[in-house]
Amino acid sequence: MPQTASAHLEIDGQSVDLPIITGSEDEVGLDISSLRSQTRAITFDPGFGNSGSCRSSITYIDGEKGILRYRGYPIEQLADHSNYLESAMLLLNGELPSPAELTAFTDNITTHTMLHENFRGFFGSFPRDAHPMPITAATVGSMSAFYESSESTPILQQSVIRLIAKYPTIAAWAYKQSIGQPFIYPRNDLDYASNFLHMMFATPCEEYVVNPVVSKALDLLLILHADHEQNCSTSTVRMVGSSQANIFAAISAGISALWGPLHGGANQKVIEMLDAIANQGQTAEQFVAAAKDKNSGVRLMGFGHRVYKSFDPRAKVLKQACDRVIRALGISSRQLEIAMELEEIAMRDEYFISRNLYPNVDFYSGVIYKAIGIPVNMFTVMFAMGRMAGWIAQYIEMRDDPDGRIGRPRQIYTGATERAYVALDQRSA
Ligand code: ACO
Repeated sequence: MPQTASAHLEIDGQSVDLPIITGSEDEVGLDISSLRSQTRAITFDPGFGNSGSCRSSITYIDGEKGILRYRGYPIEQLADHSNYLESAMLLLNGELPSPAELTAFTDNITTHTMLHENFRGFFGSFPRDAHPMPITAATVGSMSAFYESSESTPILQQSVIRLIAKYPTIAAWAYKQSIGQPFIYPRNDLDYASNFLHMMFATPCEEYVVNPVVSKALDLLLILHADHEQNCSTSTVRMVGSSQANIFAAISAGISALWGPLHGGANQKVIEMLDAIANQGQTAEQFVAAAKDKNSGVRLMGFGHRVYKSFDPRAKVLKQACDRVIRALGISSRQLEIAMELEEIAMRDEYFISRNLYPNVDFYSGVIYKAIGIPVNMFTVMFAMGRMAGWIAQYIEMRDDPDGRIGRPRQIYTGATERAYVALDQRSA
């Protein structure tokens, strides 16, 4: 990593030189790792919005220009030409696989989709109407109880295959448990996305015929969600993994972090917004007017992004997929009409244009999931299915980082200074 310059900092008359690190896309970071030992000062950055926690060669984002690349490949090209398992290999290994490598990997995944039979009892122990998200997080965490886990490379590689192969089965069984239906076993003759749809929607009484438009749309969603550099859940995976906890424990923690409405839960909020507008008989114009009114407390969910300030490249790809799915399935609903009206109105409105507020990935992913029949409480479970590849790639990069250390931020203490213990009978009531 080139270190061409240094930054000069002065604290209370003491001067320090801090090395400047430059990334391969010329982004600049101050290396403050020696700051405390030199000056006793630390940096303060709540939410780590301005702190780099690692060097990474996996995913590059330029929010100002609307760029997202996995290992250098633009997301638009992967969306057009790749599939989820190939993109997962790219994230994991750093290079696109050869045809033989892709075939071997796909076969390996396809033949590891079944769960240990004792998992049936594990799923059955959850309340009948339990939300699928805690079931999924608990099941992935419990994989280290069912399967060998260790830091040795061959066993870690086996764990990686098991996580990618078995997660769709876990997700579908979590859903079946939540609606009280029998679990459906995987089918090795189906591709990754189609097999998941089969386990979700087939029943022992009725086969589910997979619509190729639907499975293609699902595969696309998995690619687009596969990695997004050091976000909340990925940082959680790295943090847990930095203690040398096993990969199943680290990924389970990432799933829990993803659950929050400020992270993976946002696409659910889009559908809840569309339902509320439809149920209250509001028009799209009325809702957009409320979203522009600061006193209303209303926001147009699925618009705006913390990082992307010109457009979300994933949303651009998904908009076309959304149109394709809706056309192919011949779906129409008041909620879908509202979504399209909201988009059209907001995209020409000065309020949204001047603030760089564009539809984000969650606006369209929620609409597509809804259109293909995925229940709202499964949205975040689906997000985790795509993100699995990125979490694993980031876990392995963290594990192999020669500069890696256990994650341990510091704090600025603002509590009481030293005081003497007061005996219980001498304290005021
Ligand atoms: N609807 C209406 N106004 C909005 C919206 C919105 N969705 N988003 C931002 N604004 C306005 C703000 O009120 C603010 O206006 P002001 O400058 O007049 O005060 C301005 O735009 C900037 O907003 P910030 O909140 O400062 O933008 P920030 O980058 O911090 O927030 C966020 C980004 C949280 C995504 C925000 O746009 C939002 O709440 N969007 C809706 C929720 C959503 O869709 N989240 C999913 C994000 S994608 C993902 O996480 C995978």
